[in-house]
Amino acid sequence: MDYNAFTVEINKICNIDLSSYKEKQMKRRIDSLIRRNGHNSYDTYLELLKKSKYHLEEFLNYITINVSEFFRNPVQWQVLEQEIIPELLKYKNRLKIWSSACSTGEEPYSVAMLLSKMNLKDKAKIIASDIDKNALKKAKEGMYTSKELTNIPENMIKIYFNISNDDMYVIKDEIKKMVEFKTLNLLEDPYPSECDLILCRNVMIYFTEEAKEKLYRKFYNALSDRGIFFVGSTEQIIMPHKYGFINHKNFFYQKIIDSDESLPKHGGFNFPGHSKIR
Ligand SMILES: C[S@@+](CC[C@H](N)C(=O)[O-])C[C@H]1O[C@@H](n2cnc3c(N)ncnc32)[C@H](O)[C@@H]1O
Repeated sequence: MDYNAFTVEINKICNIDLSSYKEKQMKRRIDSLIRRNGHNSYDTYLELLKKSKYHLEEFLNYITINVSEFFRNPVQWQVLEQEIIPELLKYKNRLKIWSSACSTGEEPYSVAMLLSKMNLKDKAKIIASDIDKNALKKAKEGMYTSKELTNIPENMIKIYFNISNDDMYVIKDEIKKMVEFKTLNLLEDPYPSECDLILCRNVMIYFTEEAKEKLYRKFYNALSDRGIFFVGSTEQIIMPHKYGFINHKNFFYQKIIDSDESLPKHGGFNFPGHSKIR
């Protein structure tokens, strides 16, 4: 069996379409995991995955790269605090925010702490989702080592974390309560609707160009009018207007609507028909 046939079988077993992920990177990772497990063919490794829940979990854990950080790329979080959130609140009293590949929780908890710091705790609902159930389990526990707290200012650590007996930092309940976690596969599942802010950071880099195009359209549809799409620092969208977005600020894209005369027209384009991108 070759890599393509393997991806078809994996899709059947765990509903993850590996063909939507960049092949070179994904294949290299999978091949190295297979070798590490003492196998040298996709066939025998697949048999192992079918038989052993442990190895299937290991496989899923390995292919979903969970690296995350609180307030990852801090300058962008300053823009979020000082410009994006205040602007969104001009149009809405209450915001719906979706952290769409939330991994082990650092991203949605950063949003929750930020809102709390801005005295906006009751003004937002935060949904956080990921394909990886293990990562979500850790996210729900909200327990981190001191090393994992880099980027969080000391005073915020004091306010928003308790220290457990074994020196773990545990997110306080008031912050945990602000976030609703759920499993969601960005490639397959329906998205939430009417989101005012969507964070989709450091996951698009793993997808093929075709998959990205499909997902940008799904994200556009999941946003409310004038909603903001916040991406990772290496994930700028090429030709955002193609999907109905304007580049509002670096790394922040805004959904444009036909009737919105107040928004700048990007580079003089008139985006014919953008409102039909549904
Ligand atoms: C590198 S982490 C990014 C975490 C966080 N957004 C950040 O920027 O720090 C990528 C996450 O994307 C998730 N992921 C990968 N494929 C996915 C898919 N098809 N649907 C939903 N999440 C996915 C992985 O499980 C992983 O937790």
